[in-house]
Amino acid sequence: MRDSIVIAVDGTAASGKGTLAVRLADQFGFAHLDSGALYRLVALNVLRAGHHPADEPGAVAAAVAIDPASINSDALRTDEIAEAASIVAAFPRVRAALLGYQRNFADNPGRMGAVIDGRDIGTVVCPGADAKLFVDARVEVRAHRRWRELEQSGRPVSEAAVLADIRARDERDRTRPTAPLRPAPDAFLLDTSELDIDAAFVAALALVKPRVEEALRTRRRG
Ligand code: DC
Repeated sequence: MRDSIVIAVDGTAASGKGTLAVRLADQFGFAHLDSGALYRLVALNVLRAGHHPADEPGAVAAAVAIDPASINSDALRTDEIAEAASIVAAFPRVRAALLGYQRNFADNPGRMGAVIDGRDIGTVVCPGADAKLFVDARVEVRAHRRWRELEQSGRPVSEAAVLADIRARDERDRTRPTAPLRPAPDAFLLDTSELDIDAAFVAALALVKPRVEEALRTRRRG
C-alpha cells in the first residue's frame, strides 16, 4: 500500500469531474493533478511542431518531451486542443510516456494525499486508489454546459457543434483499445445531469469521505 491517499476521479468530457476533483482536493488538503492537461500538453506540442495529432511518431516524441510544469497554461483550454488530445491519447506509447509522471505524483504528492482526474486513473494509473469516482451526465446536458461556458467567455459557437464534438470525443475515448474510458468495477458512479456543481460536490463528498477517513485510519495504524 502506498503511503499517500489517492482519490481517482474519472469521467466523460464536460461532466464536471475537473471541478469536483479540485474541490475534493481543497476539502481534504490534498494535491490535485489534472491528467487531461498532460494529454493536452502533448497535443499542443504536436500542433506547434507542425504535425497532425494522428501522426504517431510526432505524438510520441512530444509525449516524452513534455514539461509538466506548463500544465496550467491557458493555451491548453481550447476545443481544438481537447480534440487533438483525445487523438494523441489513443496511442499506447503516448500513454506509456505519461504513466510514470502520474504514478509518481500519486506516490509523492507533497501532501497527505492526491486527487487525480482523468479517464483511466481508477482503471490503469492507480487501480489501488483509496476512493474512485466516475462522473457522468447526459451528453445533451454536458454539451449545454460547455456551450454556456463558451458563450460566457465570448466565444460563441452553435450548441449542435459542441454536442457533436463531445460525442466524437467520448466515442474515441471509450472505444480506443488501450485504457478506454470506462468506470473501474469498484468506482462510485455519480450522474450530475440533474445537479448543479454545489449539489454534485455534496454528492461526491458523501461517496468519497468514508473511504478517505478509512484510509486515514489505516495509515495511522500502519
Ligand atoms: O479531461 P480533458 O478534457 O482535459 O482530457 C482531454 C483528452 O485527454 C481526453 O479526451 C482523453 C485524454 N485523456 C486520457 O486519455 N486519459 C486521461 N487520464 C485524461 C485525459
